[in-house]
Amino acid sequence: MSKVVVITGSNSGIGRVAAYKFAELGCEVVMACRDMERSKQIQEEIIQTTNNRHIHLMQVDMSSFNSIKVFCKEYKARFNKLDILIHNAAYINHGSPHRLNSDNIELTFATNVVGPFYMSEILRDVLKRGEKPVILNASSNIVKHFFDPKKHIHFEHLKGEWSASEPFSVYKQYCESKMALVMLTFYLAEKYKEEGIRVNALQINGARMSRETLDKFTLKWRLAARAQNVFFPPPEKMAKCYVDICTSSRFKDVTGSLMNDKLELMVRADEEPSVFKQVKQLTGSQYYPYYADNQEVRKKLIEFCESIMTPYQQDVSTL
Ligand SMILES: NC(=O)c1ccc[n+]([C@@H]2O[C@H](COP(=O)([O-])OP(=O)(O)OC[C@H]3O[C@@H](n4cnc5c(N)ncnc54)[C@H](OP(=O)(O)O)[C@@H]3O)[C@@H](O)[C@H]2O)c1
Repeated sequence: MSKVVVITGSNSGIGRVAAYKFAELGCEVVMACRDMERSKQIQEEIIQTTNNRHIHLMQVDMSSFNSIKVFCKEYKARFNKLDILIHNAAYINHGSPHRLNSDNIELTFATNVVGPFYMSEILRDVLKRGEKPVILNASSNIVKHFFDPKKHIHFEHLKGEWSASEPFSVYKQYCESKMALVMLTFYLAEKYKEEGIRVNALQINGARMSRETLDKFTLKWRLAARAQNVFFPPPEKMAKCYVDICTSSRFKDVTGSLMNDKLELMVRADEEPSVFKQVKQLTGSQYYPYYADNQEVRKKLIEFCESIMTPYQQDVSTL
């Protein structure tokens, strides 16, 4: 039986190319997207180009826990198992003002952290039935900011406590959310290990962004991102990383790892490195910040996610 792959945000960028690649491999692909009109065209293109008719489109807004619940319920009604779950969608609207989702959670964290956590938990039982099941989280080299020992996740701002007089930056929230996603990867890998579900993350260090993505940025950020885009490779490179991490026999026993774009398993940096080591850690691609393994912060993060999920908790077991 062919593998079933769910990719969130697969109507654009890396997720879209990854959907093509999995389709070419003969997988059954579920495009989990929020804009059905735009995504329908992409779905049709993929079907036409690859001649794979098993490309499905299902609606989900990853910032809305209710929408995730509805998606998962429908998924379970239609599919018996899940082999690959890729949390690719992200809120990257640099320059935008502070925004909350309908549960009063800051939108970047709701979309990039709590949404993936909640979806993974609900789909855990179908993943268990998958063949060598794996979850892949799309992180970013922006987590390198955490090499600065003063950098930390500002939990105090995530549940709508932020007041208009305080400075707010989506860029900072995005950076913290991508670190939180790495921490979540390590946590879920341990939690799901007994069930044979692997959980890994990819540190993406640049992929050319589409006009639609850049249009979500405010002018200043858009101009900066356009300039950066010139140096970024097309999304194919990272999409290939998604496919390789999820399908290559090389990674069949790998779980709880953060990988770089060379598909090397990254290692934790030293807490107090020598100056030489510090330079090596900052400039090299093999190290992730020590902070990612901070158990106290991880505990706080899990408590944060679980507290938000409490009203939805019953659904996790009954859906
Ligand atoms: N490109 C880079 O340089 C880079 C660098 C580091 C990390 N990454 C990571 O790589 C992943 C893919 O990024 P990309 O460059 O391919 O960006 P992209 O083309 O903008 O793709 C992001 C996707 O996420 C979807 N999305 C956003 N919010 C959503 C929501 N609430 N519910 C459902 N879908 C939602 C978008 O859908 P809509 O079209 O409906 O908005 C879009 O399909 C992201 O996780 C990003 O953080 C990218």
